Amino acid sequence: MKLFRKLGIDLGTANSVVWEAGIGVVLNEPTVVAVGIEDKKVLAVGNEAKKMIGKTPEYIEVVQPMQDGVIADYEVTEAMLRYFMRQVMGSMWLMGPEVMICVPAGVTQVEQRAVMEATMSAGAKKAYLIDEPLAAAIGAKIPVAEAAGNMIIDIGGGAAEAAVIALGGVVTHRGVRVGGNKLDSAIVEYVRKKHNLIIGQQTAENIKITLGSATKLKRPELMPVNGRDSVFGLPKAIELSSDEVYEAIKDTLMQILMVVRDALEVTPPELVADIADRGIVLSGGTSQLRNFNKLVTSEIGVAAHIALEPQFCVIKGVGAAIENLEVYRRAIR
Ligand SMILES: Nc1ncnc2c1ncn2[C@@H]1O[C@H](COP(=O)(O)OP(=O)(O)OP(=O)(O)O)[C@@H](O)[C@H]1O
Ligand SMILES: [Mg+2]
Repeated sequence: MKLFRKLGIDLGTANSVVWEAGIGVVLNEPTVVAVGIEDKKVLAVGNEAKKMIGKTPEYIEVVQPMQDGVIADYEVTEAMLRYFMRQVMGSMWLMGPEVMICVPAGVTQVEQRAVMEATMSAGAKKAYLIDEPLAAAIGAKIPVAEAAGNMIIDIGGGAAEAAVIALGGVVTHRGVRVGGNKLDSAIVEYVRKKHNLIIGQQTAENIKITLGSATKLKRPELMPVNGRDSVFGLPKAIELSSDEVYEAIKDTLMQILMVVRDALEVTPPELVADIADRGIVLSGGTSQLRNFNKLVTSEIGVAAHIALEPQFCVIKGVGAAIENLEVYRRAIR
């Protein structure tokens, strides 16, 4: 049994990932917790809890404790962190792990303190914080220490953040609390208005992944969608097209692009020139939306590429930081 263990945690709005130093990713679960309404007891966490969304009896509540990239329900977040640590550490541990956890570059002091405290009271011996965009850049294998500017855009479930990194730190950043969840909601709204059909958030997510695209597809695709008629209240099925999904999500995508423009606007010209030269890197689960990189390239005018395994860039960066505390010392809070 190892006495000193070090973990990295990416506490995302949609997914939480844990890294153990020397091993790699050891846990990857949806950020969802099922709790008893009366006694607030944790009944299920992660995949088990996600399956319960929209299907619970009245004495169980399914909570997504992170909203828009920050802690929305402190108690549940802490309980979830404790559960994750126990999963990874096993039942026998003498000393809590040292934990590196990331926070969006734009968090408030209060939000930052909440993450730190939840980590400590969940059982960590020591907690360090690192900026999420910096972690994403490290995980995307961007040479962050160079004296040149690199831009990373991380688009997750709850938030999108565009940041310019140089000399091992975040130089400028802009974020918006808009991500994949807002794309799902836009689809729910659209289908309700246009087809009088009520669908759940999970169905909307499936539609987004199957039919969604950030640019209009040359050959439209179709899929059957089941839900409840909003007028008659009975089950109903329709065929939905990729053109309709594009219509539904395009304004939300524009909100995400706005932060990229805003971030570039406040970036020193020398670094902008580097970015134009090197291109923009995309990370986060939502960067996998079809043609997202094409949209960024055409709207911003700089070539954009998706990082390798974009949904794991942040945790790989957090993992690198906890394994090399000395190297990243200045970037760690
Ligand atoms: N192929 C895909 N196409 C479009 N969206 C996708 C795809 N795969 C996953 N997603 C979306 O990615 C999002 C989750 O991404 P990720 O795990 O990076 O988020 P997160 O880190 O939990 O959230 P955040 O960083 O905002 O707190 C979800 O909204 C999911 O629907
Ligand atoms: Mg994330």
